[in-house]
Amino acid sequence: MAIERTLSIIKPDAVAKNVIGQIYSRFEGAGLKVVASRMAHLSRAEAEGFYAVHKARPFFKDLVEFMISGPVMIQALEGENAIAVNRELMGATNPKEAAAGTIRADFAESIDANAVHGSDAPETAAVEIAYFFPASQVFSR
Ligand code: PPS
Repeated sequence: MAIERTLSIIKPDAVAKNVIGQIYSRFEGAGLKVVASRMAHLSRAEAEGFYAVHKARPFFKDLVEFMISGPVMIQALEGENAIAVNRELMGATNPKEAAAGTIRADFAESIDANAVHGSDAPETAAVEIAYFFPASQVFSR
């Protein structure tokens, strides 16, 4: 299986709940390594740029407002099949549909405040990691 990288964001709701460590434990328990990490309070321009692909969606404004409502924890994760492994850990976008034991089932309240983001494909992962981390700040290990 291929070693991949994926971009993960612990969103403002989960940071406010003080579950960063619990979520990192799940990454590590699933064999994912944190290869870059930083906390940030995104500007409106940063959030709009990150979610530009969703600009035409009806929820775009709410999504941006939510993502700038408090600090987030941003990380690049590396491991075998990292993109799918992370999305499995995250659970469905809507926490009400997320499988038991997933991050969203355990920590998220609603589709608006759904605890985590994870890249959905290798191409988007590469773009998303580069959006937040220069290559010199990603540490393969
Ligand atoms: S996904 O994750 O791309 O497969 O899911 P998608 O349904 O395309 O959603 C894209 C991102 O928009 C968020 N989203 C919403 N935010 C606010 N309100 C509503 N109704 C809503 N529906 C979807 C969803 O969480 C995705 O954000 P990220 O950060 O990628 O998880």
